[in-house]
Amino acid sequence: MCHLLLICKQCVIVLAKDKTHDEIWDIILKKLLPLTEVNRQGATKEKIAGFKNGQATLLIYLDRSIIKDLEDKFPLYAEKFSDYAQQEVGMFQYVLWLGLVEKGFSASLQHYNPVIDNEMARLLATPETWQLVAQIPLGIANETLSPRSLKKLEEILLTK
Ligand SMILES: Cc1cc2nc3c(=O)[nH]c(=O)nc-3n(C[C@H](O)[C@H](O)[C@H](O)COP(=O)(O)O)c2cc1C
Repeated sequence: MCHLLLICKQCVIVLAKDKTHDEIWDIILKKLLPLTEVNRQGATKEKIAGFKNGQATLLIYLDRSIIKDLEDKFPLYAEKFSDYAQQEVGMFQYVLWLGLVEKGFSASLQHYNPVIDNEMARLLATPETWQLVAQIPLGIANETLSPRSLKKLEEILLTK
């Protein structure tokens, strides 16, 4: 897994454990409540408590300084590097998720950024060039996943 993770050179992770993990979810709840309708606040508190009850949080970043270097080096593709970076970080997250599942963890992909960007940067003292992309709370699941309705293969695959 590590080898695959190193493929994304502009992807960086913070592993937040213990007190830092708790603080992250306390901050997220504090930011979310004023943005949430009063009748949904109970559900919000429950959801965030579920993430906080997990074991740790991975915060996923793109280091914009590396993207900037690529833009400067290859002007012909300059406007594309941000898109490519989003694709790479998606694959990076998938590899991470597979690795976590293999080790017996449950993990989900959350996006409370950009609302939490300033608070997270302060808490974790990350460099200014790191752009927060997602949060992956992980732990041992205490519930089974409810079934999802997936599209049929014929709906998404066009064979010619
Ligand atoms: C800025 C913002 C970002 C959010 N991001 C996520 C998210 O990444 N994942 C998620 O499950 N819910 C997200 N939510 C939803 C809140 O957790 C929501 O208030 C909660 O889910 C309410 O419960 P409901 O989903 O049953 O309505 C977000 C809400 C806001 C205001």
